[in-house]
Amino acid sequence: MEEVPGKTDRESHGVICGTKRPVLLFIFLPAMERRCVSLLIMCGIVGYIGYRKAADVLLDGLYRLEYRGYDSAGVAIRDLREIQIEKEVGKVAELDNLLKSRNFEGTQGIGHTRWATHGGVTAVNAHPHCDSQSNVALVHNGIIENYLEIKEDLEKEGVTFNTQTDTEVVAQLLAKIYQGDAVSSLIRLSGFLEGSYALVILVREIEDKIYCIRKGSPLVLGKGKKESFCASDVPALLPYTKDFIYLNDGEIAELSQDNIQIWDSSGQVLTRSSFHVDWDVSMSDKDGYPHFMLKEINEQSRVIRDSLLERLQDDSVDLSAELKWSHEDIHKWKKIHIVACGTSYYAALIAERLFENVTECDIRVDVASEYRYRKLKSGPDTLAIFVSQSGETADTLAAERKARTSGACCLAVTNVPNSTLAREVDHVLLLKAGPEVGVAATKTFTGQLCVLYLLALYLGRVCETLSKNKENRLVQELRILPFKVDSILEDHLLIRELAEKYANARNFLFLGRGNSFPVALEGALKLKEISYLHAEAYAAGEMKHGPIALLDPEVPVVVVIPRDELYDKVLSNIQEARARSAPIIAVATSGDQYIGTNAEDIMWIPVTEQEMNPFLAVIPLQLFAYYVARYRGCDIDQPRNLAKSVTVE
Ligand code: AGP
Repeated sequence: MEEVPGKTDRESHGVICGTKRPVLLFIFLPAMERRCVSLLIMCGIVGYIGYRKAADVLLDGLYRLEYRGYDSAGVAIRDLREIQIEKEVGKVAELDNLLKSRNFEGTQGIGHTRWATHGGVTAVNAHPHCDSQSNVALVHNGIIENYLEIKEDLEKEGVTFNTQTDTEVVAQLLAKIYQGDAVSSLIRLSGFLEGSYALVILVREIEDKIYCIRKGSPLVLGKGKKESFCASDVPALLPYTKDFIYLNDGEIAELSQDNIQIWDSSGQVLTRSSFHVDWDVSMSDKDGYPHFMLKEINEQSRVIRDSLLERLQDDSVDLSAELKWSHEDIHKWKKIHIVACGTSYYAALIAERLFENVTECDIRVDVASEYRYRKLKSGPDTLAIFVSQSGETADTLAAERKARTSGACCLAVTNVPNSTLAREVDHVLLLKAGPEVGVAATKTFTGQLCVLYLLALYLGRVCETLSKNKENRLVQELRILPFKVDSILEDHLLIRELAEKYANARNFLFLGRGNSFPVALEGALKLKEISYLHAEAYAAGEMKHGPIALLDPEVPVVVVIPRDELYDKVLSNIQEARARSAPIIAVATSGDQYIGTNAEDIMWIPVTEQEMNPFLAVIPLQLFAYYVARYRGCDIDQPRNLAKSVTVE
């Protein structure tokens, strides 16, 4: 357990985070029609109508959504029958201070944390936005891709704009469309908008309702006693309710104190049952850790145990309670596609190597942003697995829709029950990792490995392509993995020392072979995304095909070299790197007698079955990245430019 937070390291080291040297980024864009190049955005939205002071609920929710990253915040509160809007650049705490001086008593309102896309970071551009006559006020998560065309048309009709945002365009257009009926106005509005949006709206003359509409950006509704809520994500509302409804694309919701009413995009009234989330509000707190990321790294042994719960019968895997597959269903699959983005893709690459060893199927793994455009053969003979901790990643959703259209059987491996992905596929396997707040995925990566491994073993057993003995051996090892994970976490101070030793390097190379190569990819990504240092990973055998030219004493080489069948090959790669004077940091198996003379520094992992090495090897790399970023004073839970889930393409 990490020491309880005291002074942050930032003051002690006075290190300014981020690199001073220009980083050249060559982006090869296909010819783009006139659309904005969508940016990574993840604004936070909270809406409330009930009996509590709206300001308190909105601020509490915005604080719980801070992990989504933002640069300004604001609220609109119906107070004394008028809609009062207050906005501030900077942290939610700035807005909190401002509202204390206003002391709004209103019990209805909407709040927003903005990650600037269109228009600079100013209080004026912060949300909520309203029309020129203040008939509507709204907050928005997403990107309206045709906002310029709409803005030009409205300007021709004499509308003047106060901001550079696409969101104000939506407010002005809605005010123009509104003729007294909010739902039909929103249906008409959606016909004009291209792009992605989750909108929460106050209409001045409708004093006892809040309205929502979404397309492409998530929005969850919460029902309490004499109060209703909406938010971008569940953690914002956990203190008030655990019963939620996810709004689907095109749907419109009307929230009142006593009711939530939903319509589809044609105006048909829908009845939607709520689902119960058994996440505890404390799960979205730091519990004494300095960062959510460190807390979540330390939760991984629990995640493994929870992922295994009710999925093992003696030493066999049984997923039949969650996957209503007949043996005929399973035997008809000849292909397995595993599709994901980022860290989830690396989990898929690791699982691929197990799948190909325990099933006869043709396995293909791809990043979603490529898979969705390829001419891949998929159909009823294909099991298409989509791995996404958030279940909201736009590229993964697009890939899943393509596979589903082809007739493939679609399975989601996700952490969020009732996420968009979970609601669109045929079957779902949940990670049971609890909410992951840190932008950098850690415990959900481990949860994904667990679920994918269980699935591979289950398919192997049902298809009789996996021996009973091998299944039992691997299942027994899965059961004891949590203890081995905890033993690595106990070495966290050694890893911290090592991280600080190398924290001033500018470039890192990560290497691995076999199922350690995706681990190297994940280790490099962790370091990049939270410390902003350049790190790239290669299959160790590829080093001599180019990357070796990078090596010199200033380029540490992190090598994932557990005792497995490729050990000798990787050891020779280490020697090639050492011949170029590159410092070697090894992730090695306890008891390895050769690595000590081949590496400057070693992060040890316990002995395990070689198929299980990735579960253990990733832990030191997570800690290494965490402590380098902490030493450099970076914003670990909300790294610059990143979003917890990339809901736009
Ligand atoms: C990982 O640390 C990053 N947060 C990112 O690569 C992430 O894994 C990726 O965006 C996929 O997210 P998903 O699992 O929610 O689809």
